[in-house]
Amino acid sequence: MSAKSAGAAAAVRLNVNGTEHEISAPEDTPLLYVLRNQLGLKAAHFGCGNGQCGACRVLIDGQAVASCDTPLWAALGKRVVTAEGLGDAAHPHPLQSALIAEQAGQCGYCLAGIQISAAALLARSPAPGEAEVRAALDQNLCRCGSHNRIVRAVLRAAGGTP
Ligand code: FES
Ligand code: FES
Repeated sequence: MSAKSAGAAAAVRLNVNGTEHEISAPEDTPLLYVLRNQLGLKAAHFGCGNGQCGACRVLIDGQAVASCDTPLWAALGKRVVTAEGLGDAAHPHPLQSALIAEQAGQCGYCLAGIQISAAALLARSPAPGEAEVRAALDQNLCRCGSHNRIVRAVLRAAGGTP
């Protein structure tokens, strides 16, 4: 982590879902707070707040990271993608369609982070096996116990046998 002065708000540009946004916030603000509170992107959720549950995951230059413990400055000059950026109701990402097809969501709190981890996996390994999917989702907790349906959904999205 490079040294950054804490506290002082600065106007910076942040690329999220392909759009440049001007953000006024201290650069040590958690990225999750910027996404939810300033940009109104509510898919990523606050769960544990310390990088342990995966509910807040987003892609930064293709890597799935916990936005709750990623400071704003660490995302500057990079491409941030949230679950909203993967797809929407009119044009869902295959992962989103597969999660629906497998009825994988109960409360849904974990699912944006799941989509992000799975999208990162499929980008680097388009046809993963079940063990690879489970390993990729190891840091995404689901309190509803939907893990098996979620794994089937990721395999379905990849074109494998659920
Ligand atoms: S809220 Fe970020 S990992 Fe749990
Ligand atoms: S569906 Fe409820 S936490 Fe995963």
